[in-house]
Amino acid sequence: MVVGLGTGSTAFYAVERVGQKLKSGELRDIVCIPTSERTREHAEQLGIPLVTLNEKSELDVAIDGADDVDLRLNLVKGGGGALLREKMVEIMSKKFVCIVDESKLSSGLGPRFPLPVEITPFCHEHTMRVIEKLPSLKGCKAVLRMGNVANNKCDGDNIAVTDNGNYIVDLHFTETIHDVNAAARELKTTV
Ligand code: A5P
Repeated sequence: MVVGLGTGSTAFYAVERVGQKLKSGELRDIVCIPTSERTREHAEQLGIPLVTLNEKSELDVAIDGADDVDLRLNLVKGGGGALLREKMVEIMSKKFVCIVDESKLSSGLGPRFPLPVEITPFCHEHTMRVIEKLPSLKGCKAVLRMGNVANNKCDGDNIAVTDNGNYIVDLHFTETIHDVNAAARELKTTV
């Protein structure tokens, strides 16, 4: 069985539990794919056998947390800065288990938690302007993540850099994103 391991304070406990169950023998014959360097290090410390998408493109299950969840189970992820690898890994899984408590639930995505977008450092200010102008994201304010890449607080003077050498822009909204599917589509088709 191939298992995707998410990133963040919630996924941390899932990784711990996989490690415990492997150690006790309750789980056998699994390999895991971590979604960040943080999770890779954590899993290695627990002795969890790891591979990458290079070795295994198909996963049986992936487990992760989320930052914001609407009533239709649309998710915002990436508060913890691992969004690109999370998406690459979790989209290849037959089953995705997302662990959230009620603090993550909202009636509409946008105002409760800034939407993270990973962008290339090349001319990032240009990309931020392009994103702010996307029709479905009208009214958002794009804020470049500074300091620790693992949270969206401005807690340092340097631009935060992801595991992939990229930047993150956190999109702040005062109103709910009306069409989240259009927003996802427009973001994905932004060069
Ligand atoms: C990491 O990039 C994120 O997608 C996390 O999975 C998400 O932010 C949930 O994190 P917490 O469990 O720490 O709230």
